[in-house]
Amino acid sequence: MDVWDAHAAARFTQHPAGPLKPPARMEWTQRPGIGPAAEILGGGDLAGRRIVELGCGAGHNTAHLAAAGATAVGVDRSAGQIRRAIAHYGHTGATFVHADATLHLSRDTGRLDAIFSVFGAIGTTEPSHILGACSHRLTHCGVLVFCVPHPQRTGTIPRSPRTRDTVALPDGATATVERWEIAPAAWARALNRCGLLVTDVQHLHAPADVHRPTTLLISARKP
Ligand SMILES: C[S@@+](CC[C@H](N)C(=O)[O-])C[C@H]1O[C@@H](n2cnc3c(N)ncnc32)[C@H](O)[C@@H]1O
Repeated sequence: MDVWDAHAAARFTQHPAGPLKPPARMEWTQRPGIGPAAEILGGGDLAGRRIVELGCGAGHNTAHLAAAGATAVGVDRSAGQIRRAIAHYGHTGATFVHADATLHLSRDTGRLDAIFSVFGAIGTTEPSHILGACSHRLTHCGVLVFCVPHPQRTGTIPRSPRTRDTVALPDGATATVERWEIAPAAWARALNRCGLLVTDVQHLHAPADVHRPTTLLISARKP
């Protein structure tokens, strides 16, 4: 079973999957209140903006954006996570799609104002294809924002970018996921090759008092 399907199955066992109120704030780390919120996706007013989340999991951030008036779509390749997202937030106006992120972006041509990933599809798949697909779908001045576990969270950047990371599941079991651990300059080069320009790089500490940054948050723009 896929790691994130196993994660969803464990969550379903622990909690009833009823409707939830969308979160009041968008989060880029696993700790609430750290770093920017949704304004980083293009200003204060999100109403009417066409936004896609790649690897939405249970859909908390997509639901927040839909509640703020955006046309928000959450995509995830885990059927279990999409079932959770629909059960929790189907009532918000958000759309949730069961698909691989790159395939989803490639099979449509409609322009998007913003694409984002919160520890989602960007960073867990080979970057060139997914970044190219993002660039292809973004409108002029559209934004791509994504966060990944900080490559220097343990003190050194791994020698080979393709690594495996351990994930703790809600039932106490652990599983491993593939991850691309890339320094900010290498992300900038990968984005440039796909026609995107880096506009901001943030090294977030979550919790706020930890010594090393835990989350790398990168914003880019389609010229
Ligand atoms: C760590 S969870 C994050 C979920 C959500 N973004 C959040 O912050 O709660 C990673 C999610 O990304 C999804 N994912 C990873 N690679 C993907 C891909 N290539 N296409 C679609 N979903 C993907 C997984 O299925 C999983 O649900």
